Amino acid sequence: MTPTDATPAVVLSGAAGRIGTYLRRTDGGLAARGWGLRLLDAAEPDDVGPEETFTLADITEEESRDALETAMAGADAVVHLAGIPSEDSWTRLRRANVDGTFRVLEAARRTGVRRVVLASSNHAVGYYPLGEVARVDDTPRPDSFYGVTKVAGEALGSLYADKYGVEVVSLRIGMCADRPRTTFDLGIWLSPADVVRLVDAALRGPVDGPVVAYGVSANTRGWWDLTSARDLGYDPQDDGEVFADDVEAYDWPDVLGHGMVATDPLA
Ligand SMILES: NC(=O)c1ccc[n+]([C@@H]2O[C@H](COP(=O)([O-])OP(=O)(O)OC[C@H]3O[C@@H](n4cnc5c(N)ncnc54)[C@H](O)[C@@H]3O)[C@@H](O)[C@H]2O)c1
Repeated sequence: MTPTDATPAVVLSGAAGRIGTYLRRTDGGLAARGWGLRLLDAAEPDDVGPEETFTLADITEEESRDALETAMAGADAVVHLAGIPSEDSWTRLRRANVDGTFRVLEAARRTGVRRVVLASSNHAVGYYPLGEVARVDDTPRPDSFYGVTKVAGEALGSLYADKYGVEVVSLRIGMCADRPRTTFDLGIWLSPADVVRLVDAALRGPVDGPVVAYGVSANTRGWWDLTSARDLGYDPQDDGEVFADDVEAYDWPDVLGHGMVATDPLA
């Protein structure tokens, strides 16, 4: 779809990464759903399309403020993906995922962006026993320093929604990849096509105050409560079960969090 002046623009932070690349797919990505894409990342993707713009910015740097505000000027929405996507030292995680999310939300507020979609994670609630449904309004039980930063991101989103009226949707994404690799993944997989459906719904769906939603495919072995995602309009189509005969058995601990261990939290 060719963008016009009427095409709503969405800024994709972390656009060069895995999920950003799924959202940018020319066959069925967000552009095909009517969004004009403004990419932002600390690393430039080598395939920026003619209908896309790109801003080089490191959200851990205070100096990124101008670049963020310029990229967001006149945009309708932001999908905030930039950050560290797994366990790491506290200092690195805090700078990228907490301070970085603050800078993105603050730039969105200052530029009048209507909606911000935050990439949260199942690790925000990873100390609930596997198979137990943590509802979105249950107390978070992060399973790692990474998970703590995702809880903090959700809290920042809640503040910006309640105090400043920014529409903020936090998506607790499962395992978003081309395919599940293990039996465990079969329950938490979010397919490349479903992440596009999920984010599109998060950008458009009705919100009333801060929203938290789980994001997985329609997995036969899934156990998360997708009610708030479905309320946004998310209608997952894929099921990890089609890979069930071709995944490794995984002897995962009974609580996800035991698998997330920082090598050196003080590094
Ligand atoms: N992929 C998953 O299964 C999954 C699951 C749950 C949550 N998430 C979250 O979704 C988001 C995207 O995940 P992903 O798998 O695409 O990760 P990724 O590592 O593939 O991509 C992250 C992107 O962010 C950019 N980035 C990192 N730090 C930055 C900074 N300081 N400034 C600007 N850009 C920066 C990187 O260059 C990269 O392009 C992350 O916030 C992650 O925590 C991912």
